[in-house]
Amino acid sequence: MTAPLLEARDLSRHYQVSRGMFKPSATVKALNGVSFSLSGGETLAVVGESGCGKSTLARALTLIEKPTGGHLMIGGTDAATVDAAGTKALRKRVQMVFQNPYASLNPRKRIAQMLDEPLLLNTGLTAAERRERVAAMLAMVGLRPEHAQRYPHMFSGGQRQRIAIARAMMLQPGLLVADEPTSALDVSIQAQILNLFMDMQERTGMAYVFISHNLSVVEHIADRVMVMYLGRVVEFASKARLFAQPLHPYTRALLSATPSIDPQRRAQKIRIVGELPSPLNPPSGCSFHKRCPYAQARCSIEEPQLRPVDGSEVACHFADAVADGSALPRAA
Ligand SMILES: Nc1ncnc2c1ncn2[C@@H]1O[C@H](COP(=O)(O)OP(=O)(O)OP(=O)(O)O)[C@@H](O)[C@H]1O
Ligand code: SF4
Ligand SMILES: [Mg+2]
Repeated sequence: MTAPLLEARDLSRHYQVSRGMFKPSATVKALNGVSFSLSGGETLAVVGESGCGKSTLARALTLIEKPTGGHLMIGGTDAATVDAAGTKALRKRVQMVFQNPYASLNPRKRIAQMLDEPLLLNTGLTAAERRERVAAMLAMVGLRPEHAQRYPHMFSGGQRQRIAIARAMMLQPGLLVADEPTSALDVSIQAQILNLFMDMQERTGMAYVFISHNLSVVEHIADRVMVMYLGRVVEFASKARLFAQPLHPYTRALLSATPSIDPQRRAQKIRIVGELPSPLNPPSGCSFHKRCPYAQARCSIEEPQLRPVDGSEVACHFADAVADGSALPRAA
């Protein structure tokens, strides 16, 4: 059996943060025991409110930052066990596209140089072969040959994101991690960039971890969806299941907040109460219990684990009752 393209096992990234001169430092569990695996050609969307750990996960998957716990396996190789050369080889296989195409491109480099660099540093291709690859990639992302000699400031936001995607793809990675890649763009441009992502995947068979807080975007692009809350996965399901029957109350609330023309989904509207808790001091038991419309006494004591319910994986004590509509209202 071939190893999955990528596997996260109980992956964690905790940060020690200072709370002032006379107080002991505190721990932010930005990513707290996340597990999943990914195959070639697949798109896993990661959703959740600001601060739930999406970018921390992206940095761990792309080896920008080391996890503080758990394991990251890339093509069956544990990233923690390889030397510097091995890390370099793994990095080539997992590339990243960032949210802000203005900040992620070096303003002093022409596009041709930017796209050539990964080839120059990592392959033995001749200058002519590299030029050919750069030209082919520019065409693939919908840019013209004359764009090669221009600088980033000469492009629009959408075009810059095309350049960032081209650069990330020069080494033909098996996986691209895209962290909110369309949210800094005009709405009119977002669909074009999403279509480019889908088109590139069809051509190359590449897998995506696609981070977005926009569920309409997720519905467009994902195969599977992972919903995160305060560093943990609360629901994991195929896109079809998640949108047809969200089981975690938090997922339901996220979907409720997304405008929908589907009358069935409008009928399920639920609202979360209160603010996102401080990650420095997360609630006991289920970390969602202070905001959950179905919370019971057990929820503030016992932390729910991810478990299979109706074809999804859900971390909620009462997911079955939520599924069949028998969940009790919040006990005051
Ligand atoms: N270097 C760091 N040091 C301390 N805390 C950090 C660090 N990086 C992230 N955090 C904290 O970890 C948590 C998760 O942050 P992260 O940026 O991963 O969230 P996010 O889901 O990407 O949010 P957003 O949607 O706003 O981009 C937050 O509470 C954040 O303040
Ligand atoms: S475990 Fe309790 S508080 Fe947490 S989501 Fe389920 S019902 Fe709500
Ligand atoms: Mg982020």
